Amino acid sequence: MFRCHGGQSVGKGTYWDLSNGERIDAHRTMALPGGEDRHYMKLPVAGVFLAGPLAGLLFTCVILFLLVTLLFLPRTMHASEAVISEEAKTCLGCHATPGMSTTFRYKSTLSVHVNESHFQNTVHGFLACTGCHSDVSLDTHPASQYASKREFALHVAEA
Ligand code: HEC
Ligand code: HEC
Repeated sequence: MFRCHGGQSVGKGTYWDLSNGERIDAHRTMALPGGEDRHYMKLPVAGVFLAGPLAGLLFTCVILFLLVTLLFLPRTMHASEAVISEEAKTCLGCHATPGMSTTFRYKSTLSVHVNESHFQNTVHGFLACTGCHSDVSLDTHPASQYASKREFALHVAEA
């Protein structure tokens, strides 16, 4: 596409004044009507009919892009609000497995499954697991040293 102004000498072709839609058909070299402040676009007649649908297509793409962004934005924001620590990820590497349990010395059992998304959405989600389970060290873990559920719960609650 090709922009020109009034008074300019132009070759054969169709010229459009986009401000008022006026069409100038040049059959041979001629000067475009009007002064320098009038602007013309050189565009074949077929181009004008193509420009409409093309602009429509572009508009549809932009709308689709905006919709997709709006649909996914809230999720990303939610995920970044609740970040769990690297350490918690390590612990959850085992503890997110359903069905794991421990048997205490006095033979009572306790499920040690920790639901990852549940933990992440609690007020403690940003804490490291050892912030509360201060006696757990990955070098010696898992080695239950508690006599019972009650002893374990009391110990962690104290921490
Ligand atoms: C390699 C897998 C694995 C990893 C990693 C792991 N755990 Fe465990 N955890 C277990 C198993 C298995 C048990 C059950 C132990 C038993 O039966 O004696 C357990 C038990 C526990 C218990 C119950 C009380 C106890 O001491 O037995 C707590 C609390 C615990 N883990 C916290 C943690 C924390 C905190 C981390 C991260 C620092 C962690 N675990 C990392 C496998 C793991
Ligand atoms: C805010 C402190 C706190 C944080 C952080 C915490 N825990 Fe606990 N956890 C506790 C308490 C308190 C208990 C005992 C609950 C009871 O039985 O009364 C417990 C219990 C457990 C148990 C025994 C099973 C159960 O559900 O009672 C496991 C396993 C465990 N926690 C693992 C983890 C892991 C893995 C993380 C990190 C992803 C973690 N904890 C983060 C305080 C915490």
